[in-house]
Amino acid sequence: MTSQTIPVEPFDFIVFGGTGDLSERKLLPSLYHRQVAGQFSEPTRIIGASRGKLTDEEFREFAHKALKDHVKADELDHKQVAVFLERLSYVTVDATSGDGFARLKKAVGASERVRVFYMAVAPQLFGDISVHLREHQLVTPNSRIVVEKPIGRDLASAHELNDVIGHNFKEQQIFRIDHYLGKETVQNLMALRFGNALYEPLWNSALIDHVQITVAETVGLEDRVTYYDKAGALRDMVQNHMLQLLCLVAMEPPSSMDADAVRDEKLKVLRSLKRVNGQEAPKHTVRGQYRAGASATGPVKGYLEELGNNSSRTETFVAIKAEVENWRWAGVPFYLRTGKRLASRVSEIVIEFKQIPHNIFGESAGNISANQLVIRLQPNEGVKQYIMIKDPGPGGMRLRPTSLDVSFAEALPGRNPDAYERLIMDVVRGNQTLFMRRDEVEAAWQWIDPIQRAWEDNRQDAQGYTAGTWGPSAAIALIERDGRTWHESV
Ligand code: BG6
Repeated sequence: MTSQTIPVEPFDFIVFGGTGDLSERKLLPSLYHRQVAGQFSEPTRIIGASRGKLTDEEFREFAHKALKDHVKADELDHKQVAVFLERLSYVTVDATSGDGFARLKKAVGASERVRVFYMAVAPQLFGDISVHLREHQLVTPNSRIVVEKPIGRDLASAHELNDVIGHNFKEQQIFRIDHYLGKETVQNLMALRFGNALYEPLWNSALIDHVQITVAETVGLEDRVTYYDKAGALRDMVQNHMLQLLCLVAMEPPSSMDADAVRDEKLKVLRSLKRVNGQEAPKHTVRGQYRAGASATGPVKGYLEELGNNSSRTETFVAIKAEVENWRWAGVPFYLRTGKRLASRVSEIVIEFKQIPHNIFGESAGNISANQLVIRLQPNEGVKQYIMIKDPGPGGMRLRPTSLDVSFAEALPGRNPDAYERLIMDVVRGNQTLFMRRDEVEAAWQWIDPIQRAWEDNRQDAQGYTAGTWGPSAAIALIERDGRTWHESV
């Protein structure tokens, strides 16, 4: 896959947490790729800002290593790398005391070009940093701030955080990132729905039986012990990525791709989600926590052992039966499931259509399965439409399912740009379509909070599941109780 390159005017990109994990794994490599694609005009500058006392040269060494570790060897061109490193500099700042912001101001200078402040730091620091930026008159009309999730841990804290940032930046300058929206295949959902006349007339409760959204991972805790144990899968994945996917499936056609047109529609979906109250939570939600088991590479520890704390009740798996209460979707369940240490890494959306109203073939034709549209977000990105066909050969009319299969890798060979590449350049261009507006984030928490509360009030414990499986058996029961079954990812 290739992305079209529209060059942008020179800009300054300031990364708070410049020597952190996100900067190393995603931001610096993505910026490098955009430079190689010819998207930068000169002089574009990248300034690392962190607490560590580094010289410019040491930051360049850090960035060089980041490129070597996170860009494929055949995509590293030494001339391009040299140009890239040349645009880097570093300023030591202390987000809490404000020390270093005057130096940052000097480094940035008085230019009116686009200024991106990227918060690749813990959310507790977003507020302090935005206040210091304002106090040091670093926020110009052309400045933008990028904030990563988690935006709060519930509605109240999200509200507070949005208030602080909103006090120092206008909403049009705030880019709340959800990297799922930068994925090519996620954007393809919109292309599929609104770039084809075919699906829209079918896209409602008259013809769709239910929707499944699965984001399954094989990794465990990785190095994120402190963050993850406080968050859990509901906050880490459902509040943002899963609900954004649900919105893109369920929203009404926006009038255009204008940021607010799209976000207005997503907001309506979030506000139509039926609240899961305390009594319903045990029936509509499942929490799980992985126990020791196996991954493709061998035996793996359980969550508690990985964590080194036997008393944690944090969930690493969630399944939810959600309902969107509006005309289009009344009566169509949306089954969501996500978890760590599952059987395979797969993210996909399954739209299952209704059964045919009448079978003209009789019993000898075999079972007639409902049509399914499977949108595979990762890996093996593509779309499969399952249909029934005649089993070839004589001997009567037997039917069997087959799939019309579009693999994006085959249809669109080439490099598949990382979600961050697209999103970073959208920030520079000031395009907020793929970023969450304040009211969206808060509406998502409004739906999540009662579930979290119900779990705490009911003491709904996370049920154990063996690492390398598809989660607790209750997740299978959740959908099978309704006479449906999880799509088997192949
Ligand atoms: C992040 C979560 O937002 O998304 C992680 O914090 C998760 O826990 C990751 O692993 C998944 O992203 P991707 O792009 O690998 O599907």
